[in-house]
Amino acid sequence: MKIPQKQDPLPELKWWDSGIIYQVYPRSHQDSNGDGIGDLAGIQSRLDHFVELGIQAVWISPIYQSPMADFGYDISNFTDIAPVFGTLDDFRNLSDAMKERNIKLVMDFVPNHSSDEHVWFNRSVNRIEPYTDYYVWKDAKGFEIDGTPIPPNNWVSVFGGSMWTWNDIRQQFYLHQFVAKQPDLNYENPKVLTEILAAIKFWLDMGVDGFRVDAVPHMFEDQRYLDEPADPNAPEGSLPDEYRYYLHPYTYNLPKVLDALAEIRQLIDIYTAFDGKDRCMMVEATIPNLDDLFLYYGTESRPIAHFPFNFEFINRIKPGFNGTDILSMVDEWFQKMPPGATANWLVGNHDNHRVSKRFGDYIVDPLNMLIHLLPGSSVTYYGEEIGMQDTWISWVDTVDPAGCNAGEDRYELFSRDPERTPMQWDATKSAGFSTADRTWLPIHYNYTILNVAAQSGSDESHLEIYKKVELLRRSNAFKFGSLETKAPNDGAVFAFSRIYNSTGFIMLANFGDAQETVNASLEFEDIPAIARVYTRSQGFVPEGTFVGSSINTNEIVIGARHSLIVEF
Ligand code: GLC
Repeated sequence: MKIPQKQDPLPELKWWDSGIIYQVYPRSHQDSNGDGIGDLAGIQSRLDHFVELGIQAVWISPIYQSPMADFGYDISNFTDIAPVFGTLDDFRNLSDAMKERNIKLVMDFVPNHSSDEHVWFNRSVNRIEPYTDYYVWKDAKGFEIDGTPIPPNNWVSVFGGSMWTWNDIRQQFYLHQFVAKQPDLNYENPKVLTEILAAIKFWLDMGVDGFRVDAVPHMFEDQRYLDEPADPNAPEGSLPDEYRYYLHPYTYNLPKVLDALAEIRQLIDIYTAFDGKDRCMMVEATIPNLDDLFLYYGTESRPIAHFPFNFEFINRIKPGFNGTDILSMVDEWFQKMPPGATANWLVGNHDNHRVSKRFGDYIVDPLNMLIHLLPGSSVTYYGEEIGMQDTWISWVDTVDPAGCNAGEDRYELFSRDPERTPMQWDATKSAGFSTADRTWLPIHYNYTILNVAAQSGSDESHLEIYKKVELLRRSNAFKFGSLETKAPNDGAVFAFSRIYNSTGFIMLANFGDAQETVNASLEFEDIPAIARVYTRSQGFVPEGTFVGSSINTNEIVIGARHSLIVEF
């Protein structure tokens, strides 16, 4: 596939287009008060790391008041900070310090549900107006002989078990698409959206630069409340009380979701129209069919998200993939994306095993190169810049509800704890993350060698390779250049060029087990005969491809499972 370079007048790039977005999982970033849990002051003390990485924006997973049943994704007050993370003053300090460094701050916002400890829920339980219908309440379908109420239908929650929990006071079931402590807000009631817009306005007034909007496809349910069918293609071994056992036509991605999100976007745009500062709305929607996913961009007359996250590297690319798999994924994204829209690239987040666990350590650098150099916005999950690995967590140490709900025998299938362990800053006690002996999740034992300090300044390291990639991202070739994608050498390799006014680069990644020699001048248009190796991934370096070497573009040698960026 080939996309031509941008022509004059060159488009103005928004900050989410030009710079990398970095996801901070606040419990695991930096602990400032020795309780073993990360906090806002901790994040503030580590801002230099973002500056060194050249990060443009930081998205912080939820920091609102919360009983932490889902570690902040269960919010009991949408307009205040959880004491474990600090106070609103700490938030203001962090926000100011970020502004001084020109780093944007993106809040994680969770519209689908609140905590059952939110005051709205308590009032709803007690039928206090106007809160009676703020949540989704239903009568029992019937009662067992022993009096146990029977849920309205067979809906199973994302973390397993019924989507319905009985409330003794109200004598009705309430719906929760996630855990029982996360009752779903009822968007059939327009007052609910008004409340949520008020909460978003609160953070806009606090000066945030955007929102990552959580779990949006779950916001509406089909009002017929019909049973959901089993998925004929469910993964082998799925059990009937697991979410993945079913298709979700009545609880996922209903058309009304887009209407609600369009209103959120409208509010954000009002602020931008007023002061001219760009604010971004990115949404989390896991939808395999790209035509359906791209509805989340909205239209020119009714914009929705600036972009939906791209989960293709997580859900579509499986271990054992080759260059052809990457080529078809990348090409399909650009062919189907609405004209003028911003693409998005990411390889990990707090809900999925880390890159090195999914595909192997060798893949850390190639994937960082890909996601940050393909056109579009890109997101780094904390620790991916140093190739952090999943940490094995025992059942006793497991805290993630997705793991706990699955029970001791199956928790490892579902737990997200392994990818959430504390950031590995240096080789000192608790990896420099905390002064506590015990941290909220154990730290990976490899921290003494795998950490930011150890990789800093070492040319061979994931961290330094990452920084070089980030620098390249600032070039005109990246900002305005053409894109040409290929899967040469029988699909063992994925390669792409980005060129602006005859300067540019080619990135080549060999996913196969054998060394390959690629004739790039044959594969790509407008490539000069000689180029220079700009950077490469860790590992074995075939002769003649050291960084800085000059190479013939008609025979670029790439080692097995290796990647290379050449510039010209
Ligand atoms: C999103 C979050 C996940 C959370 C869920 C419920 O999928 O990424 O961490 O558990 O929503 O809020």
